[in-house]
Amino acid sequence: MTDDKLLLASGLLKPMMKGKDTPMPVRLHINVDHVATVRNARGTPYPDPVFAAQVCEHAGADGITAHLREDRRHIRDEDIERLRLSLVTVLNLEMAATDEMIAIAAKTKPEVITLVPERREEQTTEGGLDVKGQAGPIKAALAMAREQGIKTSLFIAPEIADVEASRELGVEQIELHTGEFAHDPSPAQLERLAKAAARGKALGLEVAAGHGLTRHNVIAVAAIPDIVEVNIGHAVISDAVIHGMSGAVRAFRAALDRGVAQRP
Ligand code: PXP
Repeated sequence: MTDDKLLLASGLLKPMMKGKDTPMPVRLHINVDHVATVRNARGTPYPDPVFAAQVCEHAGADGITAHLREDRRHIRDEDIERLRLSLVTVLNLEMAATDEMIAIAAKTKPEVITLVPERREEQTTEGGLDVKGQAGPIKAALAMAREQGIKTSLFIAPEIADVEASRELGVEQIELHTGEFAHDPSPAQLERLAKAAARGKALGLEVAAGHGLTRHNVIAVAAIPDIVEVNIGHAVISDAVIHGMSGAVRAFRAALDRGVAQRP
């Protein structure tokens, strides 16, 4: 189904709004984890996720997201410290609600923490938080955040029960997991997101969305009226690799030509 047909089928495609009805733009937060993945593959200092984050800000990103995982497979502690010092927008630290991460967040004081579930063997964050089952550790992280003046967000499945359970814990924001929608961009999945977002808004929560979003499927997500922020990583880094490829090859061609010109 094309993006426009999907929107039409869900009743979300409306005439352009004008004047005072113009909606607020959706905040774009870029996740720089996979810049670090490429760096760590070779143990080089480049590409630097902090420099990449500054380029993202320069290009119009409203915030930078980074996930400090227990196994440090991409972002490392020093990256978080450097991001904290160099960003001019907002640092959203994604983290599991563990004692170790709570201590790091309390010391680093990012503008926002997003609590995510974490399993060592997973490729990426595969589902939303078990908000009720993990209420204990979540509450400990939220208490630290309240004390430090850090905004809080919970990464949850787009389920009404999870939205309501999040509200009960006193968070300011929820981030709806869009992974299932990304795998199955159907009107039913879009409707599920829209209903969860509407419930969140009605309960006074800010509603973000993220995971598996691309330049294509993000259009339908941004059309959901109650979504105020998206967090996007893998697809942006992938697009940067592809779109930056010709420039990178041209630069190497020029470097080779300079070398050849210097031959005795
Ligand atoms: N939001 C959260 C809470 C995540 O855990 C992730 C993945 O780290 C993302 C957004 C970004 O997902 P993707 O890399 O698929 O864009």
